[in-house]
Amino acid sequence: MYETRERWSSRRAFILAVTGAAVGLGNIWRFPYMTGENGGGAFLLLYIAFVLLLGLPVMMAEIMIGRAGRRSPSQSLAVLARQAGSSEQWRWLGLFGALTVFCILSFYSVVSGWSIEYLIAAINGNFAGQGPAEVGAFFEGFLADPLRMTFNHTLFLLMTMTVVAAGVSKGLERLNNLMMPLLYLLLVVLASYAATTDGFAPALRWLFTPDPSAISVGVVLNAMGHAFFTLAVGACALMAYGAYMPDHQSLPRAAGAVAVLDVLVALLAGIAIFSVVFAQGIDPAEGPGLMFVTLPIVFAELPWGSLWLGLFFLLLLLATWTSSINLAEPMVAGLQGLGLRRSRATALIAVSIWLVGILSVLSFSHLEAVHIVAGMNFFELVSSVPSEIFLPIGGLLIAVFAAWVMPREMALRALDAGPVGFRVWQGVVRWVSIPLTALVLMSGLI
Ligand code: PHE
Ligand code: NA
Repeated sequence: MYETRERWSSRRAFILAVTGAAVGLGNIWRFPYMTGENGGGAFLLLYIAFVLLLGLPVMMAEIMIGRAGRRSPSQSLAVLARQAGSSEQWRWLGLFGALTVFCILSFYSVVSGWSIEYLIAAINGNFAGQGPAEVGAFFEGFLADPLRMTFNHTLFLLMTMTVVAAGVSKGLERLNNLMMPLLYLLLVVLASYAATTDGFAPALRWLFTPDPSAISVGVVLNAMGHAFFTLAVGACALMAYGAYMPDHQSLPRAAGAVAVLDVLVALLAGIAIFSVVFAQGIDPAEGPGLMFVTLPIVFAELPWGSLWLGLFFLLLLLATWTSSINLAEPMVAGLQGLGLRRSRATALIAVSIWLVGILSVLSFSHLEAVHIVAGMNFFELVSSVPSEIFLPIGGLLIAVFAAWVMPREMALRALDAGPVGFRVWQGVVRWVSIPLTALVLMSGLI
């Protein structure tokens, strides 16, 4: 079995890679519309609690398995299980993760393609001086054009797979180094500008005063799913990156940094977007279009607005690029583990994702009213169930493996946080993360 020698070039490079995987559509596109649909402050509070109690400890569990196994997720699980005297059937967890990332990437690529459309439109000055009605009409028009959307989806997938085919650790480092600081800078500028507008105070009130009556089982389930989604945890995707983690690096510190950076992006984006929502009287529960019908309006008000807007979508595109590379990696590593050449594996995954992605594209026109289950069309299905159900199930099993199955010595070394740090991590995963995830999942499914 193939054990990887590839390593990230430094501790910083590892943190950047994981942050690149974490920060993406989840923060800037999904977080705002989920918060809007799930009652604002209550959702935000639950999401942050889940990030701390589940997302962060399970992220460490996931990376530990990859780091100890140094193979593709399935093979790492199988090899470690054998060493622990447990069943090699654990390898199926890697396969389940591959199924999850497959579903996610198929719509992720389509929505990332929307950013390409907006990037081009912004540079052309299409949004200059436009208000909510025109921006909304632009979005509607784009959704109704499956050919354009397919073109962008294709382009984005090609971008992703080019990097994946080359092996992720090289191309990605340079990209992350450049992009992350710029993205923060721009978000801070946006949020500061939002602070000068009328919508700012109501936005803050709405985001930061939780209304307990807004909490339902569905909201709790959504918040948990989003915590996993935004941190990229539960699909064995970070496990694949853990395999390249250098030997001497404390995992809790790295994971903590990633979580802080990730939540920060979501908060800044949320403040900017909801300020526009309240200033313009847009419905917070507008749905997946929320970001695309609000941000062009703020930028249109700024001097050099088209340029800023173009820069914003460029950075968003780079952020989703690094996430989708992470989404593709476990599938490609898995096929490679089965003996396929990396380039072949990448091509195979690319074509399958492309085809399934077309169903998401058509969900905004021809297949809009074709309901697969529970009144959801294809896009609604793939953009919710894998994130809200599959990720928590995967995360739960990952946590059980790392905290109950892996031998203590092995886990201790993989966490690299000393005996006390290890005991805290193990206690939290065993007695908080695992029971809590199981409880929420069960009440959600009933
Ligand atoms: N965390 C990414 C985002 O927020 C999405 C993702 C989910 C990436 C699962 C990898 C695995 O956009
Ligand atoms: Na994220």
